[in-house]
Amino acid sequence: MNEPPRSSKPRLKQGAGASLPPFLAMEVVARANRREARRRPGDPRVIRLEVGQPASGAPATAVAAAQRALGRGLPLGYTEALGLPSLRERIAAHCRATYGVVVSPSRIVVTTGASGGFLLTFLAAFDPGDRIAMASPYYPPYNNILHALGMRPVVIEAGPDTRYQPSVALLEAMADTAEGLPDGLIVASPCNPAGTTLDRDELSALARFCDANGVRLVSDEIYHGLNWEGPPSTASAFSDSAVVINSFSKYWSMTGWRVGWAVLPDDLLPPVLRLKQNLFISAPHVSQVAAEAAFDGTDEIERTLAGYRRSRAHLLDTLPRAGLPRLLPAQGAFYIYAELDGRSGDSDAFCARLLEEASIAATPGIDFDAGRGHRFVRFSYCGPEADMIEAAHRLAAFHGG
Ligand SMILES: Cc1ncc(COP(=O)(O)O)c(C=O)c1O
Repeated sequence: MNEPPRSSKPRLKQGAGASLPPFLAMEVVARANRREARRRPGDPRVIRLEVGQPASGAPATAVAAAQRALGRGLPLGYTEALGLPSLRERIAAHCRATYGVVVSPSRIVVTTGASGGFLLTFLAAFDPGDRIAMASPYYPPYNNILHALGMRPVVIEAGPDTRYQPSVALLEAMADTAEGLPDGLIVASPCNPAGTTLDRDELSALARFCDANGVRLVSDEIYHGLNWEGPPSTASAFSDSAVVINSFSKYWSMTGWRVGWAVLPDDLLPPVLRLKQNLFISAPHVSQVAAEAAFDGTDEIERTLAGYRRSRAHLLDTLPRAGLPRLLPAQGAFYIYAELDGRSGDSDAFCARLLEEASIAATPGIDFDAGRGHRFVRFSYCGPEADMIEAAHRLAAFHGG
């Protein structure tokens, strides 16, 4: 009998990062693109409510500053690893003006978006094997980045009683389990996908509990400024050990510029500096120049926010008529997270039908919550306002039940 030829090559190993799950929202984007490509003349075009990518683009002040910097023929080389000193000053001034919190610019690191901030923070604060908690539904890359780093995400199934946010009571319940409290906790307020917020007292209680119990709090504040029911609070106001992560991607509409920041506790400053030098060298120089000028674009941003408010109102009004009466309180960010009623089937099938029949792209919740996401759909309303109005018309005519 002929034996199959044996390969003499040893099998190559793959690392933990190679088995990462995809970011499924991007699959929904591809599905919507395919539908759009198949569109025949006279068919309605696909309206995009599946991604958190603001349609408005960077404020004109930011674009003009970038153009000036490019026009001057500056080398735009590396900056200091922690970022341009003038930008770090400006971010500190922003913290003072927004929250009344004094943060020294020396505690601020400019990052390549919030995403870069997660990597730096997780590496500086945690070891492989450490347990880092987050409430579901959550932004999937938290979980996926932790996996890639050999850390262990711990999902807390928060419910409607806490608006799907973590709470001290939920942490205390963890403390009573065999594994005990986690090494870290990630919170996001407003959060993606639920759009809910922690109020000042809730965030303060969580921050103080974490500080007192050796749990490193990582507060993702990327949706600050997009708060529809009162001003945001920052974890920096309540804890010296928390890491605050923020970004120019959402409120400032600068997703593609890849620039954000973290406010670091003293003990994480030296390791984050070394990690930043080695992993990234610096955030993109031109984006840092633009980000600094984005702080002067407030009037334009306020106009964008007024548009979000109107789009939110249109959708909150019409989603119940599309068979989605159970909406989570849309307190912030630009998402509405809707729970399907029993008749609408599973969220993946619902989104497929919404795309086929109403040409509206939305994201099934499964990516954000493995256990319950099949019952939820996320709608993002940061697209052009005219599209959101048209989406509301189509939703009113569509019945998902
Ligand atoms: C909650 C949350 N955090 C972080 C990010 C990533 O932001 P950035 O573009 O700044 O890397 C996103 C992007 O959608 C997000 O929703």
